[in-house]
Amino acid sequence: MSVKSRRSLLLASGALLAVAAVTVPVVVGTASADPGSGNQARIVGGEKASLGDHPYAVFLTDGGGNQFCGAVIVSSTAVATAAHCAKAVAKQDIRVVAGREDKRTDDGQVLGVSKVWISKGYSDPTQGDDVAVLTVRGQLDYRPAKLPGSDDTSVYATGTKATVLGWGRVADGGARSDYLRSVDVPLVSDSECSADYNVYNQKTMVCAGYPEGGKDACQGDSGGPLVVGDTLIGIVSFGDGCGKAGKPGVYTRVSAYTDDIEAQARPRTLFP
Ligand code: ARG
Repeated sequence: MSVKSRRSLLLASGALLAVAAVTVPVVVGTASADPGSGNQARIVGGEKASLGDHPYAVFLTDGGGNQFCGAVIVSSTAVATAAHCAKAVAKQDIRVVAGREDKRTDDGQVLGVSKVWISKGYSDPTQGDDVAVLTVRGQLDYRPAKLPGSDDTSVYATGTKATVLGWGRVADGGARSDYLRSVDVPLVSDSECSADYNVYNQKTMVCAGYPEGGKDACQGDSGGPLVVGDTLIGIVSFGDGCGKAGKPGVYTRVSAYTDDIEAQARPRTLFP
């Protein structure tokens, strides 16, 4: 399905989009990953990853306790995620799970959310601005990711190998990964990504993946981090399928939102 037809379907589905994109695998006509094509629906080509290396990687659960997105610690009181993730579940039902590599354990901590900030102008992932910050109740015990300088372009050099992390789907129509997984993908140039996606906006998005595909994020990885070293350069946003040749993953360009994220991430002043 072309991005254009995906978009019209997406617009038609209106307010249901965000929820459909992350929770209903049979809805393939959205801006999110298409899980309906063979073995493509997974963190493609990845491997098990360690929170020792990436302590800032966290996941979000819904009212039923099910993981629906990724997120990333940006301060002791806040996580960044995708706007479409933040809109998918009511604030009072979202839980941030930190320090838990394997979903089947009760390792780490589970925190509620007191505040949701969604980037101004967000409407759907293909329009950009797909970023949100959740303020947690209590304190996160794990190290935050670093943010790039606002409008820093050096961290986005074409070909730079970045790492994407998540607990997204591991099989078509099947369960998501129980373990944190990661895959390394090179950053794609703006001109290449504009050719791959007519909705690509180089101000608000960045693409990563191999021309031949095979390594990518996928459904359930949304909101999770794309890092270079410990610096958060992207947030998993959307893609046409997963790991398809000529269809790299599209990420929110974090440097465009560093100031907003920092403002939201600032720890609460207890005694102003
Ligand atoms: N929108 C998907 C989600 O909500 C993430 C899709 C990422 N797709 C990709 N091919 N990189 O989980």
